[in-house]
Amino acid sequence: MDITFADKIVQITGAGSGFGRTAALEFSKAGAKLVLSDVNSTGLEETVRQLNIDPDRCLSLTCDISKPEDVSRMIQAGIEHFGQLDVAINNAGIAHTMARMAESSLEEFDRTMAVNVKGTFLCMKDELQQMAHQGHGVILNVASVAGLIGAPLAGAYTASKHAVIGLTKTAALEYARQNIRINAICPAFCHTPMVDNLIDGKEKRERDMSMAIPMGRLGSPEEIVNGMMWLCSDQNSFTTGQALAFDGGLTTG
Ligand SMILES: NC(=O)c1ccc[n+]([C@@H]2O[C@H](COP(=O)([O-])OP(=O)(O)OC[C@H]3O[C@@H](n4cnc5c(N)ncnc54)[C@H](O)[C@@H]3O)[C@@H](O)[C@H]2O)c1
Repeated sequence: MDITFADKIVQITGAGSGFGRTAALEFSKAGAKLVLSDVNSTGLEETVRQLNIDPDRCLSLTCDISKPEDVSRMIQAGIEHFGQLDVAINNAGIAHTMARMAESSLEEFDRTMAVNVKGTFLCMKDELQQMAHQGHGVILNVASVAGLIGAPLAGAYTASKHAVIGLTKTAALEYARQNIRINAICPAFCHTPMVDNLIDGKEKRERDMSMAIPMGRLGSPEEIVNGMMWLCSDQNSFTTGQALAFDGGLTTG
């Protein structure tokens, strides 16, 4: 199967690290023009440096997805620069301190909801408006296996990713007749800074994570981005509203 994004406009949030950075590099190799954003400008600059492409093919902007004015400014800037938005990957997200629910912090709950749920909602709102206007589009939300099943010690994160899947399915139904496909991807633990920070150099923690996955290992960002590329490509023309697990078998049973 030949997946190409030749001259497609692909917008990626959270592009300064992990999945977002790998997606930027891989979509660029497949011919895409990029609108990249992240709240962390240093990480974003590093992604742009690694891309090493003609500046005309990549617009990068600092953006906190929990802030409506930042999101509108980012999406509008991409449309003004490139004229349209073909693919939007709502990838930015945060984890929180692991704790049982009674010991969890309200501040962390609120922040997790503000970024993972409100941030994804704000992005989708402006993306859908543009895609409905232009008559086509693809949205991919990065949820998690924690959006499909419970995840002990990660209550707010789990609730937030279930909510992302709810937004995905609802929007998919609302926009199915307008040539807009909307799916979610549900990765299990992969080696990105988010998970490596949770592991924090502790071998036992990494072993426990690997043991939870039937394949017996963590995933790589490339394995997740391969799934993203297929879901966002023209090869996937009849799948919408799905929350697809890329999880080494974790949610199988
Ligand atoms: N790594 C995993 O194992 C895993 C598994 C399931 C789901 N996910 C999800 O994948 C997505 C990417 O995570 P990652 O593992 O690459 O983590 P990461 O921490 O490496 O990257 C996340 C990026 O999002 C950015 N970000 C954080 N808050 C933001 C905000 N308010 N506005 C804009 N950008 C913001 C960060 O600065 C960072 O660059 C997240 O939504 C995460 O929940 C990750």
